Amino acid sequence: MSYVADRLAVVKPSASMAVSMAAKALRAQGVDVIDLGLGEPDFPTPAHVVEAAFKAAAAGETLYTASAGTLALRAAVAAKFKRENGLDYTADEIVVANGAKQIIFNALMATLNAGDEAILPTPYFVSYPEMVKLLGGTPVMPACPAENGFRLTPDVLEAAITPRTKWLFLNMPGNPSGAVYTLAELQALGAVLAKHPQVLILSDEIYEHILFDGRQFVSFGQACPELRDRSLIVNGVAKAYAMTGWRVGYAAGPAPLLKAMNTVQSQSVTSVAAPMQAAALAALTGPQDCIAQFRTAFARRRDLVVAGVATIPGLSLAPPEGAFYAYIGCAGLIGKRTPKGEVLTDDTAVTQYLLTEGRIAAVPGAAYGLSPFFRISTATSDTVLTEAIARIKAAVAALEAK
Ligand SMILES: Cc1ncc(COP(=O)(O)O)c(C=O)c1O
Repeated sequence: MSYVADRLAVVKPSASMAVSMAAKALRAQGVDVIDLGLGEPDFPTPAHVVEAAFKAAAAGETLYTASAGTLALRAAVAAKFKRENGLDYTADEIVVANGAKQIIFNALMATLNAGDEAILPTPYFVSYPEMVKLLGGTPVMPACPAENGFRLTPDVLEAAITPRTKWLFLNMPGNPSGAVYTLAELQALGAVLAKHPQVLILSDEIYEHILFDGRQFVSFGQACPELRDRSLIVNGVAKAYAMTGWRVGYAAGPAPLLKAMNTVQSQSVTSVAAPMQAAALAALTGPQDCIAQFRTAFARRRDLVVAGVATIPGLSLAPPEGAFYAYIGCAGLIGKRTPKGEVLTDDTAVTQYLLTEGRIAAVPGAAYGLSPFFRISTATSDTVLTEAIARIKAAVAALEAK
């Protein structure tokens, strides 16, 4: 007997989770592994945010809330979009869910018919294609190579659109690449999209604040206001306020789309837990200084990793423009032989070698649809990153020539 529905047969478990599990298993055997697999800020959630959750629970905010989220939180999200992105949305045009991931899941669940296509510029966040497939859609994954800064270009977008295209996903700064789009680049994509009215745009802006070298963030909504009634602007508190485990994401979009998403939400999880919504409210309305502090730390670590990788023959890394990952090119290692005599045939073999010989957990580029690369998270201390680079360097040095 099979416990599993047919729809799950095409879905892979999260690759970054799998890498973390492998690292944990090695640790349990006493091996000292550095886990650079998962992407979570290593800072504590600001104290006033934690306090707000306690206070809300003590004050009786312990009941179900409206599915879309409390009015106070939706108003705070609308104010955030106005303040930081220059976008005009009312509280009725905002939804809150258990993380940006659930926002995306609800949106796909609410809109995809069998065979509808979602364009996922590649490399993509690992969950996008799996969610699309789980919900009966077809991922379309145009390559956005390093030479183009991992960015989708108008010609590549145009070539990927078909009459079945339901969604274009954008993610900026991007996971895993850190790529960011300028106003002009977004407008050029918008000009293509204007010709294809069947396409909805999901702009995942969860790493908005983790942006380096003085770059200014431009929301898709800001760049292409003429596409407002087809755009879902997705964000959340996880990365900006070190709140991954609190599970609060939010989005702004056209009312009919949000209504359909709320139907999914109300018939599944009902709402986000009330004290977590109070915490997100405190994050969005309280002191914002943690954002700049985190950004400074992530920029320093980015520099540390870029400088370190530059000293390792066979690896390549252009400075990521945002987010807290390094998507490291490893073409120079493919075909080399490990001290045990195995040939590194692809980036999965490279990460396997780094794990067993270098005691570094990294995620292969295959998981993000673009090889040969591997992703490390830079959301860990400078000391750990320095040690990680030294281990990668030693492991690479131990390889024999092709
Ligand atoms: C691009 C992207 N979107 C969404 C998420 C998840 O956000 P949340 O924790 O709010 O569900 C992640 C987390 O890694 C991500 O990288």
